Amino acid sequence: MYLDYWGFQVLPFENVPDPRFFFLSKSHEEALTRLIYAGKMRKGGAMLSGEIGCGKTTLIKVCIQKLSRDEFDIGVIINPKLEPLEFVQEVLYQFGMNDVPETKVKCLQKLNEKMIENAKISKETLLIVDEAQLLTESNLEEIRLLLNFQLNHRFLITIMLVGQPEVKDKIKSLQQLDQRIPIKYHLEPFNYEDTASYIVFRLNKAGKKENIFSSDAIQRIYDHSKGVPRNINNLCDLSLLLGYSQNESQVSSTIIESVINDGALL
Ligand SMILES: Nc1ncnc2c1ncn2[C@@H]1O[C@H](COP(=O)(O)OP(=O)(O)O)[C@@H](O)[C@H]1O
Ligand SMILES: [Mg+2]
Repeated sequence: MYLDYWGFQVLPFENVPDPRFFFLSKSHEEALTRLIYAGKMRKGGAMLSGEIGCGKTTLIKVCIQKLSRDEFDIGVIINPKLEPLEFVQEVLYQFGMNDVPETKVKCLQKLNEKMIENAKISKETLLIVDEAQLLTESNLEEIRLLLNFQLNHRFLITIMLVGQPEVKDKIKSLQQLDQRIPIKYHLEPFNYEDTASYIVFRLNKAGKKENIFSSDAIQRIYDHSKGVPRNINNLCDLSLLLGYSQNESQVSSTIIESVINDGALL
């Protein structure tokens, strides 16, 4: 493998949502600030949209890390394509409940009790739904009803809906739900400067102090990836592999061009 050849301690461009490799672009910073604000200020609902591969799941992980377990009881649903009963059962599971009732009414009662219990000890109940574009209309309706739970005019739950751009239209078409989601943000891909800084940042994190990508190479990576982190990672990873097999001392735009043209990338 190319690890030793380039002098890395770990692989620099792995496509996993690892908060240790989290790079804060302007847009990622803004998204994070808004999600944390939504949770801390008990804003009810929040929505984060963004193209596939832009960093939404990674952001959720970072957001969870930043919220104290003493103040937040957090449940995360990563695959929300479920029947309404399964959906509320899944919500209970994700809040750590094992004896999940067989009817929706009983599930909702249990959830209500949990939220009130949390409120009494000043804990915020936070539900995060990833891939929220997959939510059916019935489940979006369940979410609207969950946002109705209030105690002394305060929301008992904060719900963050995170998904691909279609989620925006889905929510917009359900006016009553839309009104309960005051915080909305669309995560943008990196711009050129972000892309360049991101590449150097990841090289450093992996233990390499020098930048081994030429500026032409970085320009070509940006053009091809359109600044989408997942695409940048794939391109950089394969370029490092090719550079190693060709015994290069730097990743040039010619290498990037070869990787793009050999069809290994989608
Ligand atoms: N801000 C970021 N900092 C570091 N790596 C990132 C960032 N955003 C995305 N990535 C990388 O890109 C990959 C795809 O991001 P992911 O969060 O899965 O995107 P999405 O959920 O929007 O499809 C991740 O595995 C991660 O390695
Ligand atoms: Mg994701």
